Amino acid sequence: MLNSIGLQNPGVEYFMEYDLPWLKNQDVAVIVNACGSTIEDYVELCKILNKADIDGVELNLSCPNVKAGCLAFGTTYEGVKEVTSKVRKVLDKPLIVKLTPNVTDITLPAKGAEDAGADAVSLINTLLGMSININTRKPYLANNTGGLSGPCVKPVAVRMVYQVSQAVNIPILGMGGIINGGDAIEFMLAGASAVSIGAGNFIDPYTSVNTVKGIEEYMKNHNIEDINDIVGKVKMN
Ligand SMILES: Cc1cc2nc3c(=O)[nH]c(=O)nc-3n(C[C@H](O)[C@H](O)[C@H](O)COP(=O)(O)O)c2cc1C
Repeated sequence: MLNSIGLQNPGVEYFMEYDLPWLKNQDVAVIVNACGSTIEDYVELCKILNKADIDGVELNLSCPNVKAGCLAFGTTYEGVKEVTSKVRKVLDKPLIVKLTPNVTDITLPAKGAEDAGADAVSLINTLLGMSININTRKPYLANNTGGLSGPCVKPVAVRMVYQVSQAVNIPILGMGGIINGGDAIEFMLAGASAVSIGAGNFIDPYTSVNTVKGIEEYMKNHNIEDINDIVGKVKMN
C-alpha cells in the first residue's frame, strides 16, 4: 500500500473525550501514537496524555520538523535523542519511540531513543515511495509521494529489526508487512518482543486474530512453551 493520508485527526481533546472511552471498553491495552510538527508540540501533547487513562505513548518521529527546515526528527541520533528526552521529562507512562526506515543506518536513531530513556522502540514506519500513472504522466498520489507498507516491505523491516536488536538493549516492537503468524515469528526471531499490523488490516480485518492463531500453531508445532524463548533467536549463517 502506498498511502498519503497525512496525520489529520480530530485532536487530543476530542480523542480523550470520545475515542478513549470506547477503546477502554475493548479490554485491550491502549497505546497512543503521538505526533507533532515541533518539539514543543510533542511535549505539550505528552503532558496531556500523561494524565490520560492510557497504557503508553508511541512517539511518531517521522513528522516534519518545521524549525529545522522540514527535516524529520527521526533521521538522526541527535534529533531522536532531543525530542525523546524532552518528552521523557513530562511523561511517566511507558514511552515507545517509533523509527522511520528512511535512513542509512537505523541503529543511530534507535540508540538516540535508548539514550534518552525510551522504554522501547518500534519499527518500521513506512518507506517513502512514488507511483506514476503512465497515461496521465502524473503521480497517483496528490502529494506525489507517500508511505509504502504491506508485505513488500517485510524484508527491509526484518533486516532493520535485526540490526536494531544488535545495537540496543530495550525491547523492540516490530512491524512492516505482517499478514500471518509466520511473518510475526520472523520478526520475533529477528529480535522483536512484540509485533503490530497496519496494512494487513486493509487486506483482511481478521489479520490480527489469524496472526495470533498462527503464532500459537507455530508454538505447538515447535514445542515452544513461552514465546519469549524465540525472541532474537535467529541462527545467522
Ligand atoms: C493507512 C496507514 C496509516 C498510517 N498511519 C500512521 C500513523 O498515524 N502513525 C504512525 O506512526 N504510523 C502510521 N502508519 C504506519 C504503520 O503503523 C506501520 O508502521 C507501517 O505501515 C508498516 O507496517 P505494515 O506494513 O503492517 O502497515 C500508517 C500506515 C498505513 C498503511
